[in-house]
Amino acid sequence: MTVILPGSIIGFLGGGHLSSMAAMAARTMGYDVHVLDPEPNCPARALASQTITAPWSDVDAAARLAEDADVVTMEIEQIPMASLEAAERHSLVRPAPGVLFTVQDRARQKEWLRDHDFPVGPFRIVRSADDTTSAVRDFGAGVVKASTGASDGRGLARISHVEDAAGAWASIGATIGVVEQFLDISAELSVMVARAPAGDMRAYPPARNHYTQGVFTWSVIPGNFEDDVVERATEIACRIAEQLRVVGLLAVELFLLEDGSLFVNELAPRPHNTYHHAERACVTGQFEQLVRAICGLPLGDTDVVRPAAIYKLHADLWTGAQPPDFTEVLALPGVRVHLYGRHGARPGREMGHLSACGANSDTALERVVDAYRRLSISTAGPKP
Ligand SMILES: Nc1ncnc2c1ncn2[C@@H]1O[C@H](COP(=O)(O)OP(=O)(O)OP(=O)(O)O)[C@@H](O)[C@H]1O
Ligand SMILES: [Mg+2]
Repeated sequence: MTVILPGSIIGFLGGGHLSSMAAMAARTMGYDVHVLDPEPNCPARALASQTITAPWSDVDAAARLAEDADVVTMEIEQIPMASLEAAERHSLVRPAPGVLFTVQDRARQKEWLRDHDFPVGPFRIVRSADDTTSAVRDFGAGVVKASTGASDGRGLARISHVEDAAGAWASIGATIGVVEQFLDISAELSVMVARAPAGDMRAYPPARNHYTQGVFTWSVIPGNFEDDVVERATEIACRIAEQLRVVGLLAVELFLLEDGSLFVNELAPRPHNTYHHAERACVTGQFEQLVRAICGLPLGDTDVVRPAAIYKLHADLWTGAQPPDFTEVLALPGVRVHLYGRHGARPGREMGHLSACGANSDTALERVVDAYRRLSISTAGPKP
């Protein structure tokens, strides 16, 4: 199996914060970085020796990125297949376009999971208000999600009463959607798996994640789940990575239900927001691991060295373009600030996160929640 050695060029489809952090890891290891993004001021621009500004649908731009790169990877799954295939004609694309095809459409992803015998909650693919109403009538209560383009609580609506189904369908603005039964969730977790070109895999310990009205809020690692939950979640995540033949990273979001069963929520074949703490907690962070996996280098150790937690920072804490004053929180033990270099603090936008280490997971989480609380008190931001 060919190894792509330091000194080679990694091409990133997407220049947002995930690519930016992966580019930093790549630079640390001696790789050069090229980036394609529709936004000229994208965060990863500062780390790239070449940036192509073009829409995702620009197949020639994707081909140009790939012509110069020794391997191409991506930070988002919504890249048109034609662009991925154009890139693949000139370079290795990892994960491969076929992985993205399965994952980038929520309905297709759910069907793939169900057809490969992975545990998913009851769901129905819907194309109209009537379909949505009838699914909710059968499920009792549900969540309707747009099949493409949803993230961070956008394109998703909870439906508690059947008479709200038509309005919820209209609110997500989709032509195809998925209605899921509203599940009795006791905890949310994710498992990050790295898979190398020859098929070897390393899984990270499950992270415990918290969402507020569908929006990711905090995560802690290790998640301190029962051994049996860790074992089952890890087995499911590794089996999915294997069956999808991912080369790179695969984040698997799971729900632990009140009755102890585990359901897969969704997949992301790239670095993931719920594993930012791995940079501080684990022997190898997710971004270095991505570089190792796509370059065919040995995968790094995923053990937790020191528990760590993160708390998301949204634009609500910003005053215009001005970030909050971090002086007080940076004086707290174990706390760090990570900003994504985004231009434009539009409401709801993720601008960065806080992280904290601790002697155990509880302490790490308490520290990061305390730090966030102090920031939210000093600004008009939402309270934890
Ligand atoms: N079927 C369900 N039952 C109960 N709660 C749910 C269900 N589906 C989603 N949720 C809640 O909404 C959150 C977001 O759902 P999901 O991950 O599908 O959306 P998303 O927009 O892709 O989010 P993100 O991009 O942040 O991962 C979940 O983490 C969970 O808290
Ligand atoms: Mg999710």
